[in-house]
Amino acid sequence: MNTIDTAIRAAAADIKLAGVAKAYDAQTVVIPPMDVQLKAGEFTVVLGPSGCGKSTLLQMIAGLERVSGGKIVIGDREVQDLEPKQRGCAMVFQNYALYPHMTVLENMAYSLKVAGLSKVERAERVEAVATMLGLSDYLHRRPGQLSGGQRQRVAIGRAIVREPGVLLFDEPLSNLDAQLRHDMRVELAELHRRIGATTIFVTHDQVEAMTLADRILILNRGRIEQFDTPKAIYHHPASVFVAKFIGAPPMNILPVTGDGSALRLADGQVVAEASLTGNYQLGIRPEDIVASGHGAGRLCKAMLRFREDLGSHSVLAAELAGLVVRIATPFGVDTADLVELSLNFPPSRLHLFDAQTGRAIAGAFGA
Ligand SMILES: Nc1ncnc2c1ncn2[C@@H]1O[C@H](COP(=O)(O)OP(=O)(O)OP(=O)(O)O)[C@@H](O)[C@H]1O
Ligand SMILES: [Mg+2]
Repeated sequence: MNTIDTAIRAAAADIKLAGVAKAYDAQTVVIPPMDVQLKAGEFTVVLGPSGCGKSTLLQMIAGLERVSGGKIVIGDREVQDLEPKQRGCAMVFQNYALYPHMTVLENMAYSLKVAGLSKVERAERVEAVATMLGLSDYLHRRPGQLSGGQRQRVAIGRAIVREPGVLLFDEPLSNLDAQLRHDMRVELAELHRRIGATTIFVTHDQVEAMTLADRILILNRGRIEQFDTPKAIYHHPASVFVAKFIGAPPMNILPVTGDGSALRLADGQVVAEASLTGNYQLGIRPEDIVASGHGAGRLCKAMLRFREDLGSHSVLAAELAGLVVRIATPFGVDTADLVELSLNFPPSRLHLFDAQTGRAIAGAFGA
């Protein structure tokens, strides 16, 4: 622990949005009134398709975009009418544009200079942050003389020198290659554990979401589809939208009809016993389908169309009742010659959704 850690931990604040909305005009409602509360020190990942309002949400919290309605409370202060610099938030963008003519030290110290800190105070803080981020040897280089990962760390350092209680990240890793993303992800997790700032992190990458988040907030057209732990989102998706958004390949969704004792696919095959009537959408993850023809549930016949070997496992694509289902199996199961598969859908792994609304129906299979 050094002074920066302690200061940020102390500043970490709850964030409360009450009816926060954004509309550009009557036709362009980007975020309908939203209520959400984030706990002090919590790491929230915001996930959702392009254009769903992720950046808008972050910018309203930071004060870079005005709210059309509602209140934003950070700690015990209502901030929606305050200037960005009065809110105690720091933001890191995808295009983090460091000042090219300034050194790393000057880039990181700049906001402190603007804030009126003395040269000694500035040097102390920058040094502490540089040590934390492994940048001590690069303080006198310019951004052009750094690697992509080092530049990204400078951008993060520049945000945290100000000892913000709230850290906002808008896709900070999306310009980096796969290996560097992975390294930075680990660094960010460590940094968060260390400084404990309330963090909101926008990404398109579900691996980042699953590994970094205390809770994931899934946005769909500006509305919250689900806000829960990664585990809950994965195992108990609240809607078909969430089910298909998390997981690669995504959850299989099959239309089924209940006849009072069983759920049947379009071709009449029974996938599960259940005392339900009417139409539903049945979900099962590729890794939960058993392709070996054994198991506790009913067996369905499917035609293998192709397989992809990914090293650690294989993904089979099979035709079932006119749809393609994907099945993840451990690598080494030799299915090359199999044409017809007997698929088993373990009842405890099934998810049931309303056919119209797509919302999850709990407890349909005794789970
Ligand atoms: N000035 C504006 N006037 C009208 N609509 C706007 C304006 N700025 C943004 N929008 C709309 O608001 C919606 C949300 O934009 P936002 O940038 O928040 O999406 P996002 O979820 O961050 O998307 P991405 O993943 O592509 O970054 C988009 O449909 C966008 O077209
Ligand atoms: Mg965006």
